[in-house]
Amino acid sequence: MGIAEIEVMKGFVRLCDDGFRMGWHERNGGNLTYRMKPHEVAECRPFFYEKIGAWTSCGIVAESLAGEYFIATGSGKFMRNMAINTEDNICIAEINEKGDAYRIVWGLTRGGVPTSEFPSHLLNHSVKKAATNGSHRIIYHAHTPSVIALTFVLPLTDRDFSRVLWKSMTECPIVFPAGVGLVPWMIPGGADIAIASSKLMEEYDAIIWAHHGTFCSGPDFDATFGLMHTLEKSAEIYLKALSCGTRIRQTITDDALRQVAKAFGVTLNEKFLD
Ligand code: 13P
Ligand code: ZN
Repeated sequence: MGIAEIEVMKGFVRLCDDGFRMGWHERNGGNLTYRMKPHEVAECRPFFYEKIGAWTSCGIVAESLAGEYFIATGSGKFMRNMAINTEDNICIAEINEKGDAYRIVWGLTRGGVPTSEFPSHLLNHSVKKAATNGSHRIIYHAHTPSVIALTFVLPLTDRDFSRVLWKSMTECPIVFPAGVGLVPWMIPGGADIAIASSKLMEEYDAIIWAHHGTFCSGPDFDATFGLMHTLEKSAEIYLKALSCGTRIRQTITDDALRQVAKAFGVTLNEKFLD
């Protein structure tokens, strides 16, 4: 059995492939990281390199991730290639004792480094590991076209986006009851955007980078992909309604949002309700 047949690798690659088919990953757009469970590290360990390379700075410090192993897409690699040539496009990276450096123990066989958004992924993982008692393991970034389009027409606030996305499809409040966070336009790939994102991840499972894309956190591949899909579909519906040329005649009321939340046993972020 090759490493690509191990369950966690199959799940990782399937999400990359699904995201590409949705049209969210032009060229090398978007990236994915997964914090591995100990038994998954043990399953993959026989494939680790005998000679492991040097430690490289993570660009941030995430002490709570010391000793963790991550599966990560490579920087500049295309999501459409993850399934057909996994070992050239994906790596497993080990984090050092201080949580400030990583080294590649497997993958990226033709060279390369983890995604340029590794600092954002790691800080988000660190925040979510603490906030969810370790249950969240995935950070997924996609260039979701309808969400990006909305960042040109809606005010860039958590409140405006959360309300629109909750109200554009009835079951949205059940999927992201906390709402979504907004990061203003920033330079991608550095510590600054990582810090801004991780602050919002303390409160939300999904954050939107203005004019760039979406970051989602979740416990498994299905839930994380499902969250990304729900956000993007809700944004698409709102854009379609806006594009009809007539005014929006009616929408889901705040009271109706409360009723949905009650019926499905979720707690909505009250600060976004009137
Ligand atoms: P990477 O190819 O480095 O993952 O960058 C893609 C991207 O979407 C940056 O935000
Ligand atoms: Zn991006």
